[in-house]
Amino acid sequence: MKSHETIVIVDFGSQVTQLIARRVREAGVYAEIVGTHHAAARLDDPNVRGVILSGGQASVYEPGAPDVDDAVLDTKLPLLGICYGMQLLVHRTGGKVEHSPEREFGRAELEILKSDSTLLGGLPRLSTVWMSHGDSIVTLPEGYRVTARTESAPYAASENPHTRRYAVQFHPEVRHTDLGPEILKRFVRDICGCTGDWSMEAYEEEAIVEIRNLVGASGRVVCALSGGVDSAVMALLVHHAIGDRLVAVFVDNGLLRKDEAANVVRVFEGRFGLPVRAVDARARFLDRLAGVVDPEEKRRRIGHTFIDIFEEEAREIGAGWLAQGTIYPDRIESSSIKGPSAVIKSHHNVGGLPERMNLELIEPLKWLFKDEVRSLGERLGLDPAFVRRHPFPGPGLAVRLLGEVSETRLAILREADAIFREELERSGWMEKTSQAFAVLLPVKTVGVMGDGRTYEHVLALRSVDTDDFMTADWSRLPHDMLGRIAGRIIGEVRGINRVVYDITSKPPATIEWE
Ligand code: XMP
Repeated sequence: MKSHETIVIVDFGSQVTQLIARRVREAGVYAEIVGTHHAAARLDDPNVRGVILSGGQASVYEPGAPDVDDAVLDTKLPLLGICYGMQLLVHRTGGKVEHSPEREFGRAELEILKSDSTLLGGLPRLSTVWMSHGDSIVTLPEGYRVTARTESAPYAASENPHTRRYAVQFHPEVRHTDLGPEILKRFVRDICGCTGDWSMEAYEEEAIVEIRNLVGASGRVVCALSGGVDSAVMALLVHHAIGDRLVAVFVDNGLLRKDEAANVVRVFEGRFGLPVRAVDARARFLDRLAGVVDPEEKRRRIGHTFIDIFEEEAREIGAGWLAQGTIYPDRIESSSIKGPSAVIKSHHNVGGLPERMNLELIEPLKWLFKDEVRSLGERLGLDPAFVRRHPFPGPGLAVRLLGEVSETRLAILREADAIFREELERSGWMEKTSQAFAVLLPVKTVGVMGDGRTYEHVLALRSVDTDDFMTADWSRLPHDMLGRIAGRIIGEVRGINRVVYDITSKPPATIEWE
């Protein structure tokens, strides 16, 4: 994104660097994450208004600790250092940081000391902040003053207002820091002087112009619809730009949730007038999965079969462009401190299709975070319930059905999953959880029904709460509701006589069972 006021976030490897960018964007300002190696060059862009140095796990005294060129620290732009970013700023500009073997981790009470600070002045004197650091400051660089403290951190916040250098030991980007959004907003708006030109309305307009320019007056585009939010929003955006010159391919692989295939076609073709080429490939996928129990082998076969089918369809459509719903987090390497910051996860690419078929790629959502994609989706007319859909894995029910994939087992899982989802919708819990689904286990247990013994399958229910899907906690669903769901599943779905609820967080478990 070149045309917007920009805040550059230098990534020193913190788990929560992306949250800084999200909070800045919530303040109406475009933020981009760059690796340490690219930071200096990125500052040449006249749209850049300020720099944030992220947190990170390292100590500034560690050999090979992440660092930046002088040009970044010497920039005339305002600079905000967070945690490791603060320690590096202080260490490199004449202050002293002390290495501590113990990490301070958790909530702390922040006391603001200076009412004339542009960053902190006028905010409540006492508030809660989130700390996670090893090293701490013992001497500030010349020209700095301390603006806030906590019990264990006398230099919890400091600044040199003349050079517009700001430093905080705590993490304003995480939710537990009460004043975090306001502090980041003050930095980007009041200190960096950004007016707030970042909105999904502006993004939509620009993306449409860009797609039209790229594709030209007669170019044709093909894309795949998965039923998920990203591909839906991408398809609607491209459709707005070039109308029927976009053809969406929807492959029914037979591994979808109940009614999903019919719904996708109904919504996109019926409601939005987007041409959908629906391919019934259920038998082909089942055939390729016959006898396969290894999860990775299932994924591999499903991926290859999808690419084969998509390639056949795309050739018939005769497009020159492939549109993909890649979003910004897909492109940020988890440890951008080690090198280039943008790599694409392999499962987000439709294989090597673009090169193989000579297709040019369009990725109109590649600058957006998920919450921005959702908001753009609503602008484009998608229902709020649709844009807040839980994620669904590409390999679908195949990885929620442990063991061999068969039509009979798929039918059992689909029905049980539909009951779980229906109850979550009805009770309002669907919105309160991040991802919920049923898993069919390859285990039979003994039960009793009426006068007779049964010997049927076990079904597991899984529901998790998470912000980023990299870590997750199991959802504390009400016991009564779980009981009702279990009762309905056993009563209504033939083939299941026991229901269990998964109470493992991630880590150590993953969200999916396979
Ligand atoms: P795990 O199970 O690794 O899942 O904790 C994290 C998130 O990724 C989704 N997931 C996948 N999505 N293809 C996908 O498109 C896959 O093979 C796949 N495996 C897991 C999972 O549903 C969760 O949202």
